[in-house]
Parts: sequence; C-alpha cells; structure tokens
Amino acid sequence: MKPSVFLLVASALAYAEARFAPGNIADEINFPGKSTEGDDDKIVTTPEKAPNAIDPNSGDKPPFFLLVGDSTVASNTGWGDGLLELTSHPDNGINWGKGGATTVSYREEGLWDQVIDNTTAFKIDHEPIVTIQFGHNDHKLDSGISLHGFEENLKNMALEVKKAGGTPILVTPLAVRVFEKDVPVDSLAQQREKVIAAATAAGVDHIDLNTASRDYVQKVGKKGTASYDLNSNDQVHLNPTGRTVFARMVADLLVKARPDLEKSLEPKDEVSEKIAAGEVVTIDGQSQEQPQQEEQKEQPQQEEQNGQVQQEEQNGQVEQEKQNGQVEQEEEQNGQMQQEEQNGQMQQEEQKEQLQ
Ligand SMILES: *[C@@H]1O[C@H](CO)[C@@H](O)[C@H](O)[C@H]1NC(C)=O
Repeated sequence: MKPSVFLLVASALAYAEARFAPGNIADEINFPGKSTEGDDDKIVTTPEKAPNAIDPNSGDKPPFFLLVGDSTVASNTGWGDGLLELTSHPDNGINWGKGGATTVSYREEGLWDQVIDNTTAFKIDHEPIVTIQFGHNDHKLDSGISLHGFEENLKNMALEVKKAGGTPILVTPLAVRVFEKDVPVDSLAQQREKVIAAATAAGVDHIDLNTASRDYVQKVGKKGTASYDLNSNDQVHLNPTGRTVFARMVADLLVKARPDLEKSLEPKDEVSEKIAAGEVVTIDGQSQEQPQQEEQKEQPQQEEQNGQVQQEEQNGQVEQEKQNGQVEQEEEQNGQMQQEEQNGQMQQEEQKEQLQ
C-alpha cells in the first residue's frame, strides 16, 4: 500500500466536510434514555500523586498509544485493536478499552490508575498518547452520571494525563448504526457536545469520531453497515470488518488533528478512500453471510433502543472477562459468545493477510 497524496487530500476534504456538515433531521429525535443536566453529579478525580508535568511534545519521541474507553474501543467489540494494527510497530500501544465502562466505573475499577501508571512509565522513551472515548454507557439513565458530570470527568482525565506527562486526545463516541426511517439515530449527540466542551476546557485535542462515523453510516445506509455489526442484533459493536473500517477512520482523524502522527501510522489506504467516498468496505475472505437484520419499520423507536442497550450490557459482561490481556483465569461463561470471539480472531488473521 503506497501513500497517495491525492487520496490524502481527497480524504481530508471529505472529513472536513463531515465535520462541518449541518445536522439533519435525526438531530430532532428525542430519546428517553438521555441524561439530563439535573441529575446528581458523579464527578471523580484521582488524588494528587503524579510528578511535575513534562512537556510531552518536547523532543521527537515516538508515540505510544493508550486507548481508553468502553466496549466500542475494547478488544473483540471495538476499534482499538484495529488502530494498534495500524501503528508502525506491533507493540506501539495498549488497548485499555473495557466493556460496559463509564467515566466513573473506569476509575472505580482501578483501570484509570493503571493507565496513568503506564503513561508515567512509557513517557521515558515515548510520547504516551492517551485517547479517551466514553459515552455509550455514561448516557444510560441508570449510570447516575449527568451530562455535566460526564464532561467534568473527561476534563479531569485529560488534565491528569497531561500532568502525568502524556498527551490526551478526547474522542467523541462512535455512532450507533441503528436507523430510524433511513437516518442513523443521533443518540449520543449530547455526549458528543460534552466531549468537545471537555477538550476545550482542558485545552487538549479532540477528534470528532461521532460526526465522522454517523456521516459515513448515513451514506452507507442500513444494509451496508450491517456488514460491520458484531451480530445481527447488535448495531453498536464491531465485527472484524467494522473494526478495520472504524479504526482506519480514527487513524485518519488522528493524523488530521496531529499531522506529525502520520509517520507512526500506516498511510491512508483503500479503506480510507472508501470511507471518504461513503462506500461499503468489504474484505475478501471475511464472512459476508451474516443474516441481515429484518426490517423493523413498524417497531416503535422505544423498543428498538431498549434492545440496543440490553445488547450492549450483555457484551459488556462478556468483555469484562477478557480484560486487556490480563493473565487472569477466564471462567467458562458462555460457550456461544466465546466461540464468537474465537471466530472473530480467526477472521482478524485472515483479514490481515488480505490487506497486506
Ligand atoms: C502497563 O500497565 C500494565 C497493567 O497495570 C502493567 O502490567 C504493565 O507493566 C504496564 N507497563 C509499563 C511499561 O509500566
């Protein structure tokens, strides 16, 4: 795959367009599950302990990617591993994504401390770049996290990464691929706004994955994006093809925000080109025979969304067992899901070969 200046410019233009595109009618859809400003705040921070900040951009250290987030980032269900595959060296990052995680649970479970420890450790030889993408679980009513709390938590995370000597990049949440009358629902619009507000308040970069992915999902349509779904009932999580597509999208957005990262990520390729053109990406050798979800035109929106959330929780639980290559003994929990993950891994290997 050779870098192509033309594709680079074409893709950059397409992204610019996506980024500044006006909202469409889905912006007006209201969802019952939205957080509101009035909720009790759950704002969490880590006590002071990091050493004095060092300017992470001083010198020319190679990046080390620490990918923080929920299941839409995590191994087997999100884009994180796909992004690491695009780094110049296979060990240039760690996928810290965790199924079911919120900006609150991520700390409560001790994961955030480990990310900060990693940041401190890796900054000696690298620029630790910590991407942070939450929202899919924070927005659920039972999370108890208000929009204000969500924003504050993200801002604090960004500031703590800076303080530990890393470079935080906030990421607006991957769009869901649930359609309402041929338009992808905009269920995370408020979270998107708060991510951007948090980045502004902390004075750090952000990438607008939500807008880019929703715009692309809109162009490709319901049938097209079904080939990225983890399974036919799950329009949130990603199968190996979906991982490849959205990881490429994240990589291209990262390079747009930080052009110097271009040398550390695989150059834009035919996947970038198809994303920019709003075309479906198919990867030879990968199963395209997933049963397409039956059209549910008559289904009321409420039901569709509930189904979606339940599915997400279910995957989050499975994901909990598989956290980030930790050497814990994994309990046999659900043979079917494990089989699915295995298939995913095999597909991933095939896919790598096909792309080379
Ligand atoms: C990163 O964090 C993991 C989990 O805490 C730890 O096992 C690993 O040693 C850390 N890496 C470095 C370089 O500190």
